[in-house]
Amino acid sequence: MASLTVRKLDEALKKRLRLLAARNGRSVEEEIRQILGRAARGEQGESAGTAPVRQASARGIGPLPARHGADEAAPDIKRILLIIGGGIAAYKSLDLIRRLKERGATVRCILTKAAQEFVTPLSAGALCGERAFTDLFDPLSEFDVGHIRLAREADLIVVAPATADLMAKLAGGHADDLATAVLLATATPILLAPAMNPRMWEHPATQRNLAQLSADGVVIVGPGEGEMAEIGEAGVGRMAEPLEIVATAELLLRKAAGDQPLTGKRVVVTSGPTHEPIDPVRYIANRSSGKQGHAIAAAAAAAGAEVILIRGPVNIPDPVGVSVVKVETAREMFEQVERAMPADCAVFAAAVADWRVSAPGPEKLKKTGRGPALNLVENTDILATIAQRKAKRPALVIGFAAETEKVFANAKDKLRRKGCDWIVANDVSPETGVMGGDRNRVHLVTTEGVESWPAQTKDAVARALVKRIAAALNKEANS
Ligand code: CTP
Repeated sequence: MASLTVRKLDEALKKRLRLLAARNGRSVEEEIRQILGRAARGEQGESAGTAPVRQASARGIGPLPARHGADEAAPDIKRILLIIGGGIAAYKSLDLIRRLKERGATVRCILTKAAQEFVTPLSAGALCGERAFTDLFDPLSEFDVGHIRLAREADLIVVAPATADLMAKLAGGHADDLATAVLLATATPILLAPAMNPRMWEHPATQRNLAQLSADGVVIVGPGEGEMAEIGEAGVGRMAEPLEIVATAELLLRKAAGDQPLTGKRVVVTSGPTHEPIDPVRYIANRSSGKQGHAIAAAAAAAGAEVILIRGPVNIPDPVGVSVVKVETAREMFEQVERAMPADCAVFAAAVADWRVSAPGPEKLKKTGRGPALNLVENTDILATIAQRKAKRPALVIGFAAETEKVFANAKDKLRRKGCDWIVANDVSPETGVMGGDRNRVHLVTTEGVESWPAQTKDAVARALVKRIAAALNKEANS
């Protein structure tokens, strides 16, 4: 008897909650969060009759409190609707949800029927923090959110993996399930990450659909080349990696928001180590991962710049939307930097080897009982050469100072010696974990003084630096 009453109460509560959520334009989960939040703050609850309808923009992440050099530009990615298609790459979409959320996005998920053969709505929903949607004719989801609202309440729709079938349906304007109905009912930008067997990708029908989708303004990321899930299959058809999809999403969102302060500017970035050969199989190198330089190139591209990234040998993917020039040695790097000039801004983040072997052995050196006497000569200082140039010098030349002691003093000395405008200094002592790690604590050294930024991810350092670059270049253009 008692349990029946509780059940009835439970049902009534759920019904009331669904009603409130629908009136307030929220999902049920969001409504519960709002109610709990108000309760915690001791505020009055919303009555169903007076509840204000939430503005769509209120779902976006607001600006973080401004801190010196802190990642004020973090909320680049806002509300993403992720449509997961039915392919083996669907497992990567779960990681994609995490990556998007890491960047401050709210993510909603739709799984096609086929997608549910590969991943479950439960796992996608758990990662999103709200239930995943699956059915066009599900009375609960239509009442709770509805396919039109799903389409409308997104700043970007990402389809990953986009199967050949989903692409065909979208190109043909079909709308026979929730995913395709949402895609047809939206004016929101759409990003597709195709994934399929190489033969399906190459098929004239898929290529025809691809051309149609591109003509319709749909943006495509990938597919890449490599091994397929099917044993022995290789070719073009692998879904782009989650981080590549996130970077493309960020580019699109910024473009849509008109948030590209470096539009029309050309930025040259060096990144990674250089390898200086000793003989055909050995070389002198350093521990630079290229993460910071690559992040700066990506952030500059996201801010609308034309970016030329000249990078030494690294094990990280090339950033999206930049022209990449691969080099090995300091001499090649210098040559390519010269070729990339003129530029509005040059950022020298590479850990260029200071020395090279004057005459690398033409054959593999053999042991002789004594170590070989290597004659080292100094490489050209690329940063100093460009910074001290009179003609066609970039308006802003930025160097890095990776130090293990006396960080400020060495950086100030480098600024003066090399003649650049700014130095980004950091402590790379092994205990900091900066070399090869994902976080960095930097100090921006200019002729006006030193500004110490909080420890943050290398991506965040890059965004904050790019913001400063845009402000400086635009100030110069206006003066
Ligand atoms: N740099 C460069 N070309 C070189 C050496 C360094 O462009 N041949 C640039 C780096 O990309 C970085 C800055 O100079 O932006 C400082 O690099 P760093 O190795 O710290 O400076 P060095 O001049 O080599 O000073 P030291 O090694 O004596 O600290």
